[in-house]
Amino acid sequence: MILLDSVTKKYPGDEEPALDNVSLHIEPNEFVFLVGKSGAGKSTLIKMLTKEEIPDSGKIVVGGIDLDYVKKRHIPGYRRRLGVVFQDFKLLPRRTVYENVAFALEIIGMSSKDIRKTVPKVLELVDLLPQANKFPGQLSGGQQQRVSIARSVARQPKILIADEPTANLDKLTTNEIIDLLKKINDFGTTILVTTHNESIVNNLGKRVVTLKKGKIVDDQKNHGIYKLDERPLDVSVSMTGRIIQAPGHALNPQMARKIVAKPVAKPVVTPAPKPAPKPVAKKPVTPVTKNTVRPAVRKRKVTKSNVI
Ligand SMILES: Nc1ncnc2c1ncn2[C@@H]1O[C@H](COP(=O)(O)OP(=O)(O)OP(=O)(O)O)[C@@H](O)[C@H]1O
Ligand SMILES: [Mg+2]
Repeated sequence: MILLDSVTKKYPGDEEPALDNVSLHIEPNEFVFLVGKSGAGKSTLIKMLTKEEIPDSGKIVVGGIDLDYVKKRHIPGYRRRLGVVFQDFKLLPRRTVYENVAFALEIIGMSSKDIRKTVPKVLELVDLLPQANKFPGQLSGGQQQRVSIARSVARQPKILIADEPTANLDKLTTNEIIDLLKKINDFGTTILVTTHNESIVNNLGKRVVTLKKGKIVDDQKNHGIYKLDERPLDVSVSMTGRIIQAPGHALNPQMARKIVAKPVAKPVVTPAPKPAPKPVAKKPVTPVTKNTVRPAVRKRKVTKSNVI
């Protein structure tokens, strides 16, 4: 459904590529979270799919369309075949909720009769029928995001792409939006969502793809958890593999299995990450023999100046 093959993108003026030889295959009807630190390349990957940016090299195929062959004048038409949801909603402020959704259908040439049939159904799906005549400014953030999703799904896209759709929302509203995306996925739409929200990723247990400095460094196909590669898992596992402590995580059994399958290096205690040691010039190794005399370890005197 979505295919990136060895995609590289470097923005003019940048030293490092935003995407570095990225290959990713998303099957029809998958629900995929794309995670990674700020600057990892998540939005750039999304922009590759919407053709807001074009790669320096590599191939991208979305819904059977090879993006190399989508000419500039056909880009708006191509985008309308996708559902795209943004962090800042991008609603038309002078049009009502109903009109925002209806407009999205007008521009793909749907007849007025079909629009009148479709819009209420979609507003019902996103639970906004009572707000149909309100303007975006009269809605909460979560409601505005639901209008934006309604507008996208009204055209029944096969693929829905969302770049941090819950970034501006509180926890409860975030859960509502994710539930809605799940419902849309259950109806058969392939979904790709970027997020920094650890708990929604962990609670949903879907595929999780992690980007780091423009490269895919992790791809957990099933029951994925939010794990930026450098951070040790915030979980303690007993010698038998039983999870004894999981601070900060709402663990579900599927996640637990995943973690137990990949225990952290030391079973009982997860050490805090240490700062990288300063490089030290390598000394030649002296073979240890009976006669080798080990130098005495000199104890450093604790003074005011060497205590931080
Ligand atoms: N228009 C641009 N011009 C130059 N460099 C850019 C541009 N857009 C992004 N970059 C650079 O590309 C890299 C990836 O940026 P991107 O926006 O894809 O990251 P991100 O993972 O979406 O981050 P965030 O989580 O903060 O949204 C960063 O180093 C960023 O500075
Ligand atoms: Mg981004």
